[in-house]
Parts: sequence; structure tokens; C-alpha cells
Amino acid sequence: MKIAMIGTGYVGLVTGVCLSDFGHEVVCVDKNCAKIETLRKGEVPIYEPGLDSVMQRNMDSGRLTFTTDIAAAVAGAQAVFIAVGTPSRRGDGHADLSYVMAAAEDVARTLTGYAVIVTKSTVPVGTNRKVAEVIRNARPDAEFDVASNPEFLREGAAIEDFMRPDRIVVGVETDRARAVMGDIYRPLFLRDFPIVYTGLETAEMIKYAANAFLATKITFINEIAALCERVGADVKSVAKGMGLDGRIGNKFLHAGPGYGGSCFPKDTSALARIGQEHGVPQRITETVIEINEAVKRRMVDKVLDLCDGSFNGKKIAILGVTFKPNTDDMRSAPSLTIVPAMIGGGARVHVVDPQGQREGAALLPGVAWETDPYQAVADAHAVVVLTEWNEFRALDLGRMARSMAEPRMADLRNIYDRGEAMAAGFQQYEAVGR
Ligand code: NAD
Ligand code: UGA
Repeated sequence: MKIAMIGTGYVGLVTGVCLSDFGHEVVCVDKNCAKIETLRKGEVPIYEPGLDSVMQRNMDSGRLTFTTDIAAAVAGAQAVFIAVGTPSRRGDGHADLSYVMAAAEDVARTLTGYAVIVTKSTVPVGTNRKVAEVIRNARPDAEFDVASNPEFLREGAAIEDFMRPDRIVVGVETDRARAVMGDIYRPLFLRDFPIVYTGLETAEMIKYAANAFLATKITFINEIAALCERVGADVKSVAKGMGLDGRIGNKFLHAGPGYGGSCFPKDTSALARIGQEHGVPQRITETVIEINEAVKRRMVDKVLDLCDGSFNGKKIAILGVTFKPNTDDMRSAPSLTIVPAMIGGGARVHVVDPQGQREGAALLPGVAWETDPYQAVADAHAVVVLTEWNEFRALDLGRMARSMAEPRMADLRNIYDRGEAMAAGFQQYEAVGR
């Protein structure tokens, strides 16, 4: 089947690459010419483990191509995926649908025969109907259906998540569209990965409900962590003890510096807006958003305490600034709140991140970028673990402590233990919730 993929960001590129790996002919389109040039050379413009080899394999087979010419991509395609961004709209926190609607107009202009227009982007309830309306108004003659097919992959584990999904959600209204969607995902269906067919509104809602629930789970444990610190309990053991209950589950119960990323912050905010607009306020989600902001501020206070109440003139080493490990994505990373607060207080901040510098350089002005954690901590008054990259999990704490001006650590991802840090020569060790 020929498939057109509009948007080659984290989701569009991974989806396009994986669908071509299923044997489909995929043409990926982006309006960003530089990105398409890079992709044509076989280079991946983002950091996503494993993506380059699957992409190369499918480019070599001729099934995967890249273009800026939307008409060429859409011509003859039986499915056209819209995988463009839906960032938070400035001012009101609603999802900005301008990219989706512009893509729908592009599709309307270029449709040649029957195709299913599949929205992969995360979009508020009602958007798929609006996409259909835009196309119908522009091209009353066009033969098409729309489908909602939200994506649940995580950055850093995107290939694995796409190839081995917990479920595939497909919102459709016609048998014809359902058959096309069934063909697209046939390789996964044959391997028993469940496909949930619903109506359009339900599919759109599932995506927001899932992300808001996960953000709530993280926020719940972050709030419990704050209480653990006060009462002398250990949040890691609390999470383990809770998570072993099959009804709760142990995933997404890691306390930390607050959730970040390109999706939880914007999707919780959009869900809150959708609720308000429909007169059904999503009070839990609204509270989660507030608490997550407070969690980030609490982290600043934690490091401030570690620095005896003043950042002024202190050197602080930060390990990790991306919103999570195994990605170069800096969107809404907790570091973007925490690091500027330190710099604002007069700290000299030295940062090490295996992939964060390319995006982070512009977002974190005033920091010194280092490549070696030991270099970064030399003469520092505190070291802060902000992102739990694997390369930070087994550092020689003794070597670090010996080279620091004040051997103090704020381990905001709970990757070390107080006992081992103190035994290695740290004078102070602060974690989250323990
Ligand atoms: P992104 O910003 O990384 O990429 C979007 C791409 O679309 C950009 O390359 C942009 O140039 C391109 N684009 C925009 N308008 C276009 C147009 N009219 N024609 C051609 N190209 C166009 O976005 P992303 O992170 O991949 O997210 C895309 C959507 O998927 C969002 O709705 C997001 O919420 C959702 N989503 C993202 C993730 C994730 O892990 N990033 C996971 C699940 C769902
Ligand atoms: C998240 C969801 O997990 C995906 O299912 C979804 O498709 C995606 O959003 C999306 O809609 O874009 P992602 O943002 O890539 O994926 O990363 P996560 O692994 O979910 O982490 C999000 C944030 O929560 C990170 O800042 C992470 O550090 C934090 N987190 C996660 C915790 O603080 N504790 C946890 O236990 C888990």
C-alpha cells in the first residue's frame, strides 16, 4: 500500500520508518527543506536509538522516500497520515491546530483518488470532523474518509513502542476506512497486538485520557515523595510496595523533578481547556498541572538548601538536562525551570548531557557545556542529577567527591543511595522522597 506521511518529527518519522518496515511504500513529506535534505542523505535529524538502521534498511529497499512535494507524496496514496505538531497555543494553553488544518488543506489540494486521512497528531475531540470538513469544503468531489489513530510511543523507546505496542487505537466510521487501517497494521494484528476500533471522538479522547492519567500517576508519587521526606519514609520502597499490587502497577511511579517533555505538559493543559469549554472542568488534571510546577520549584529549593541558602558565586554541576534519557528533546524539560533559577541566583552552572547540547545551547544561555562529568564537578559546590542517563548511573563517587570544593549531591532521580554517597566522601546527599 502507498502511504503518505505528513510531518517528519519524532512521531511522523518513526511511524513512516516503521510502516515501511512492514512492507508498505511510504513517502514522508515535510515543509522543512533542511530536514528533508538530511533525511535523504540517510541521516536522522533527531536522536532516537535504533531509528537510523531501520530507516537505512528501508531507504535501501526503495520503500521509504522523503520529499517536500506534498502532491507527489499524496498522489495514489491509500492513506495519508497527518503527524504534524500540536503545541500549546500561546496564551490559553489550548492545542494549536493551525499545523493540522494547514496539512488538511494541503491534502485537499492534492488528493487524487480514494484515501483515508489519518490523524496521528494528538488532537482535541472534534478535530477529525473538522479535518473532514476542511477537505470536503475545499474539494466537494474528493472521495475520502477520516480516521483517528493516536500514537502512544515514548521518545527514547520509540521503535520498540511502535513495533510492540500495548494497543493500537483506531477511530473510524466506515467499513472502507476500517479495512484500510486494518491492512496498514496487519503485521501487528497478526502478532496478536490488540487493535481497539472506536468512533472518532472516543479515539481522540483515549489519547488525552491516557497521557493525563500517566501524568497524574507521576504527580501522585511526587506528592507522596514530599510527604515521605517529612515523615522519614522512603518513596522508592513505597512505590515498590504499591506497584506490586497488580491493580496499581509499578510503572510511572518514579519520583523525580516533575514530568516534562513534548507531550504531558501540553496535553494536560489541552485536556483542561477542553473540559472548561464543555463545562466539565477536569479538576484532577488541573491540579496535576499546578502540582507539577510546584514540584519543579521544590527542586530549586532543595538545591538552594544544599548550597546553604545562596547560589551566589557557587559552581553547580548538572548531570543531564533533556526531559528524560535517550532523547535530545528539551521541550518542557524540568531543567528549563531549574537551571535558570540557579543562574538567576548567581550560580556558575556547568552542564553535561550526552545529547542535550544541540538543542539546549539556545535554551539555557549562560551555562558552560562539558563533555566529561568528572570535569564538570571539579571544584563544584554541588552536583545535581537531573536526568538519569545510563552513563551517570555508575560514576566513581569517590573521585567526584575528592575533586569538588564542597562534596554535596542533589540526586533528583534517586539513582544513588545516601549510604554509598556518604561512604564515598560526600558531606551531604539529598534525594527525592527518601
Ligand atoms: P515535531 O514538532 O517533532 O514534528 C512535526 C513536524 O511536522 C516538523 O518537522 C514540521 O516541519 C512538520 N510540519 C508541520 N506542518 C507541516 C505541513 N503542513 N506539511 C509538512 N510538514 C509539516 O512533532 P512530534 O513530536 O513528532 O509530534 C507530532 C504530533 O504527535 C503531536 O501532536 C504530538 O502531540 C504527537 N505525539 C508525539 C509523541 C512524541 O513522543 N513526540 C508521541 C505521541 C504523540
Ligand atoms: C509520553 C507517554 O509515555 C507516551 O505514551 C506518549 O505517546 C507520549 O508522551 C506523547 O504523547 O507524546 P514521553 O513524553 O516520550 O512519552 O516520555 P515519558 O517516558 O512518558 O516521560 C515523560 C516525563 O515523565 C519525563 O519527564 C520523565 O522523566 C517523567 N517521568 C516518567 C517521571 O518523572 N517518573 C516516571 O515514573 C515516569
